[in-house]
Amino acid sequence: MLSEVLLVSAPGKVILHGEHAVVHGKVALAVALNLRTFLRLQPHSTGKVGLNLPNIGIKQAWDVASLQLLDTSFLEQGDITALTPEQVEKLKEVAGCPEDCANDHKWLAVLAFLFLYLSICRKQRWTEEDLELINKWAFQGERVIHGNPSGVDNTVSTWGGALRYQQGKISSLKRPPALKILLTNTKVPRSTKALVAGVRNRLLKFPEIVAPVLTSIEAISLECERVLAEMASAPTPGHYLVLEELIDMNQHHLNALGVGHASLDQLCQVTTAHGLHSKLTGGGGGGCGITLLRPDLQRLEVEAAKQALTGCGFDCWETSIGAPGVSVHAATSLDAPILQALDGI
Ligand code: PMV
Repeated sequence: MLSEVLLVSAPGKVILHGEHAVVHGKVALAVALNLRTFLRLQPHSTGKVGLNLPNIGIKQAWDVASLQLLDTSFLEQGDITALTPEQVEKLKEVAGCPEDCANDHKWLAVLAFLFLYLSICRKQRWTEEDLELINKWAFQGERVIHGNPSGVDNTVSTWGGALRYQQGKISSLKRPPALKILLTNTKVPRSTKALVAGVRNRLLKFPEIVAPVLTSIEAISLECERVLAEMASAPTPGHYLVLEELIDMNQHHLNALGVGHASLDQLCQVTTAHGLHSKLTGGGGGGCGITLLRPDLQRLEVEAAKQALTGCGFDCWETSIGAPGVSVHAATSLDAPILQALDGI
C-alpha cells in the first residue's frame, strides 16, 4: 500500500463541437482545460490514509487495515456492473458512505478515488495500461451520472490535449493552436441524463428533421478540425473568424435539439454585445458555455466581458486549452497556492 504522500491532478474539459451528436456516433472535438482538480492521498502514522479533494470540498480518511481486507479482484475489469451487491456494500462501508450515497456525486467521487487508490495510486509512475484503467473507471462514474454516455468526457480528462472522438475511437489533434477561452458557468442546474434522453426522443419523433441537424453538427466538428490543423502552421485572423462562425452555427443547432436555456441565451447575448462568440458546452440546459478569445483582443475588452458575465450572476474563468491529462505530481513541482489549498480543508 501507499507509503508516501501522493499528489494527483486531472484537467477540466470542454467539448468544442459535437456534444449530443457524439452520443449518436458522430465525431466530437474535445479539449482538456488548464483548470485542474487536485487530489492528495496521505498515509498517517495512525494507520489511516487520508484523501483530500480541495476543489470539491472532500476530506476523508480510511483505515489501511480494512482496505487491505477488501476483495479487489473486480478492479482489473474496470466495470462497476462486475461488482456483486456484497462487494458494493462492503466498499460503501469501508468508504464511509452515508446510506443514500449512490445519489450523491461527491460520494461517487470518493468511491472512484478509493478504486484508484486500491488499483493504481500506490504506483508513482503510470503506464498506458494504468491510464486505460483510470479511463475505464472514470467512464463508470459517467455512466452513473449520464445513463448512456459517449465516453468523450472521461477520455479527454484522462489523456489530455485536444482529441477527436468517435464511438470510442480517439485520435489526438496534432499541435492544436493555443486557443484562449472563457469558461462560464451559468450555475443553472441540469441533468445531462434527461437532456440526452430528450434529444433521443426528438430524434425518434422527427427523424427527418433531427438526423440532418446531428449530421450538420458533425460537419461543424470536421470543419473545426480542419481549421485547427491549418492554424498549427500559420494562424491568421481569418481562421478565428471561421471558428466564431462555427460556434454560432453549432449554438443554433443545439437550440434546435432542445438543449438550450434562457441562461445560455443570455450568456451568448452578453458576449455578442462585446463582439465575442459563445456556445454551450456539454449537456446544455444551463451548465457551462465557452467563449472564444481572439488573440487580437485587448486586456480591457476581455475584462469588460468577464465583468458583464459575472454581473449576470455567472462564474467565469479565463483559461486555455490543451492541458495534460491525469497526472502524478511531486510536491516540489506544485505552486504554493495549490499546496495551501491541499492543506486548507
Ligand atoms: O454535460 P457534460 O459536460 O457531462 O457533457 C455531456 C456531453 C454529451 O455529449 C451531451 C453526452 C455524452 O455522453 O457525450
